[in-house]
Amino acid sequence: MVYELSNPLTKTLITHLRDQKSDAIRFRHTIAELTKQLVYEALKEFSLIQKSIKTWQGEQSFGAIDEKNIVVATVLRAGMPMLGSAIELLPDAAAGFLAIKRDETTHKSVLYYDRLPECRDKTILLVDPMVATGGSICDAIELIKSRNPKKIVALNIIGSPEGLERVSKRYSDVDIYIAQIDERLNSDMFIIPGLGDAGDRSYNTPE
Ligand code: PRP
Repeated sequence: MVYELSNPLTKTLITHLRDQKSDAIRFRHTIAELTKQLVYEALKEFSLIQKSIKTWQGEQSFGAIDEKNIVVATVLRAGMPMLGSAIELLPDAAAGFLAIKRDETTHKSVLYYDRLPECRDKTILLVDPMVATGGSICDAIELIKSRNPKKIVALNIIGSPEGLERVSKRYSDVDIYIAQIDERLNSDMFIIPGLGDAGDRSYNTPE
């Protein structure tokens, strides 16, 4: 399923991202804020474990998310501000990194860096700001699936209807939480109206 956030604050932050006046630090900061909103939404129904802690009235048990069974994974490089934000909320979760490059002539993707931690029976939060054609996220899902996770949940900032349909058709078991579904892809495979290239905007590397 694809879940789109509808809070007016979410829409306001997306408008800041679209604004060319937003410099790299504001762009990354806004991505990080939106990521927190996505994590809240994605974990809304998450079950709690009982955790024994020392309180002012002695040892007691309270509910908490079992963060040790969560992996936050990203595809370099635009996902980095999202990953940083998600692991601030979930400090005991493990972080995983993938780098996938598409060969411009064959259009096949090549994995050139894989530092995923143990994924077996864990919930994987896969964070990447953009779903354009959906190719990158499909490649990442395919790879993570081969590591036998319990569940994969994708957290994205902006996507095209075409890309999201491709991902959700191919992986109906993967829930996608997204801040903004835009109108369409153009012939160059850019999201319209979109916000430009999230990696370039985050790291001051305009084409
Ligand atoms: C962006 C984005 C996704 C991908 C989406 O990364 O972060 O990973 O494009 O496009 P797709 O849905 O058509 O695959 P990009 O390749 O620009 O790399 P970057 O993060 O290094 O900027």
